[in-house]
Amino acid sequence: MGIVLHGGKVITASNSIDADVRIDGEVVSHIGKGIIRTGDEVIDVSGCLILPGGIDAHTHFDLDVGFTVTSDNFETGTKAAIRGGTTTIINYATQYKGETLKQAFENEYSKAKNCYCDFGIHMGITDWNENIATEMQDMVDLGATSFKLYMAYKNNLQVDDGVIYQVLKRSKEIGGLVTFHCENGDVIDALIKEAVNEGHTSPKHHALTRPDILEREAIARVIDIAGLLEVPIYVVHLSTLMGLDVIRMFRNLGRKIYVETCPQYLLLNESLYEHEGEKYVMSPPLRKKSDNQALWSGLVDDFIDTIATDHCSFNYHGQKDLGKDDFRKIPNGAPGVEDRFALIYTYGVLQRRLTLNQFVAKISTNPAKIFGLYPKKGTIAVGSDADLVVLDPNYQTKISAKTQLQNVDYNPYEGMVRKGFFRYVFLRGRRMVENENVVGHPCGQYIHRNTFSLGGEIYV
Ligand code: URP
Ligand code: ZN
Ligand code: ZN
Repeated sequence: MGIVLHGGKVITASNSIDADVRIDGEVVSHIGKGIIRTGDEVIDVSGCLILPGGIDAHTHFDLDVGFTVTSDNFETGTKAAIRGGTTTIINYATQYKGETLKQAFENEYSKAKNCYCDFGIHMGITDWNENIATEMQDMVDLGATSFKLYMAYKNNLQVDDGVIYQVLKRSKEIGGLVTFHCENGDVIDALIKEAVNEGHTSPKHHALTRPDILEREAIARVIDIAGLLEVPIYVVHLSTLMGLDVIRMFRNLGRKIYVETCPQYLLLNESLYEHEGEKYVMSPPLRKKSDNQALWSGLVDDFIDTIATDHCSFNYHGQKDLGKDDFRKIPNGAPGVEDRFALIYTYGVLQRRLTLNQFVAKISTNPAKIFGLYPKKGTIAVGSDADLVVLDPNYQTKISAKTQLQNVDYNPYEGMVRKGFFRYVFLRGRRMVENENVVGHPCGQYIHRNTFSLGGEIYV
């Protein structure tokens, strides 16, 4: 006996077809008409879209930033994720100074309790030595096939150009993929010191000390270093027109640069720093409306491949407000995992910027391909995991912190309209969400990911 979703429209990155979808156990077993068998549970989804579950390839659940810890752990973060149509997240583990990668991986894995969606782990490398090169292979063997280097956060997470070169070189040997936080941390550090010396310590100075040109500089630098080695890279949370321009130039020359942006860089802008600006202190910071526009164009033209959230939540009261008089004390980051799917559907698809197929590509298929999850995840195909979203397009509500599941006391998108109702969300065939209520129990699993070299290509 299976479950048949009957009467909907199936949307993948390449197709839109009127078809039923049959789930047998954890996987999709049939797609088409006339697939109902005696004894099947038939669910009428007429008028609804059937989409692959969302993949948010950039979250920070249970992140310890030294003086405080994110308000969302894996349980609350993944519950919010699944309610909002995301069935897989990839969380960033941090190697703290003096730690081995094994310790960092085990620490992260032990924190991933009671997950409501599936999860993978990226390995942040902050403390390079010769042993780390060996350990990178161990991480790949454990299915953590991607790494992150921070070009910002001086004296903390930041690595220098020599480390960038070494990690890229090693990653190429073992088939991994390195993701980059691209901001010039040295210059930002100098700008922060100048601002503070001049008494400029309010939240908006977080943004003013991280100008767009420093994102462009870091992107150009890492592209050049990767160019020496002829190795692909992945740029996380792209926020600027300037950065996109450099990427576009090198992509047009045939370079493999995978690019992610986030809803906050598409929908929010720097004017928000004027009122309760602490809520929007994140790195990179919010930019201008012209940057929002440029990033939408980058998505439409497929120079930007994925939309993740960089979900990194801290409460306004008691965490963010620690730094209301000194922006250096505001923990960086903002929530988004619960709203990404609906926001991009509303402001991308319904505002006719993205086709439905492009939408699926950016929020599910491309991250699945790039990060070694495809075709198990990221599409609707026979044999793929039955990670499915049934979205009723005829529905409208407003985003509010009062009704959210993510464990944080504000929402950066408060009051914005969102369209589309999550009638059902299935995780490996299990009904996790019904009419926007989480009805399933925590059954999320760690996903052992393939290497980038085993299929990361999304363009030629
Ligand atoms: O402000 C942010 N984005 N915090 C999370 C860490 C990072 O840089 O991705
Ligand atoms: Zn980052
Ligand atoms: Zn991040």
